[in-house]
Amino acid sequence: MHVHRLERIFLGLGVITLAAFFLILIALQVGESFKPPASSVTIDPTKVASTPPFDHPGLRRLPDGSYEAYYVGQVFFWQPSTLSVPLGAKVHFYVTSTDVVHGFLIEHTDVNLEVMPGWVSTATHVFRHPGDHLIVCDQYCGAGHADMFAHIVVK
Ligand code: CUA
Repeated sequence: MHVHRLERIFLGLGVITLAAFFLILIALQVGESFKPPASSVTIDPTKVASTPPFDHPGLRRLPDGSYEAYYVGQVFFWQPSTLSVPLGAKVHFYVTSTDVVHGFLIEHTDVNLEVMPGWVSTATHVFRHPGDHLIVCDQYCGAGHADMFAHIVVK
């Protein structure tokens, strides 16, 4: 079978590109990048329930007037399931998992964290509008994945 020279070059470029992507993927997994975004904080996933402040998930007020919110994800729920946040509050989120990878997405915000056991994922958001924000898990985590949600009520 005769394959035109330009076609061979085109195929070769495709193979080289695929190989390059594959090598980059391996390098990223072997290197530093296999952890959630914006986090270098680790936690023993088997001891989350006894590790402060994750032993009491919820909202804390800081001296500067902002807040910290600690969340624990596990199949198939978030703790706390409902959180009341004052209107205008700046909230720093700290989220971890006790079991498998979950996703922590707060609707109508730019907060969307990958939550991995052993790591604490972080994000900050200012709640400028009153209302009920749904938190959904956006990483498939098992049979009850679709039922894994919580609420943040801003008022
Ligand atoms: Cu947790 Cu999907």
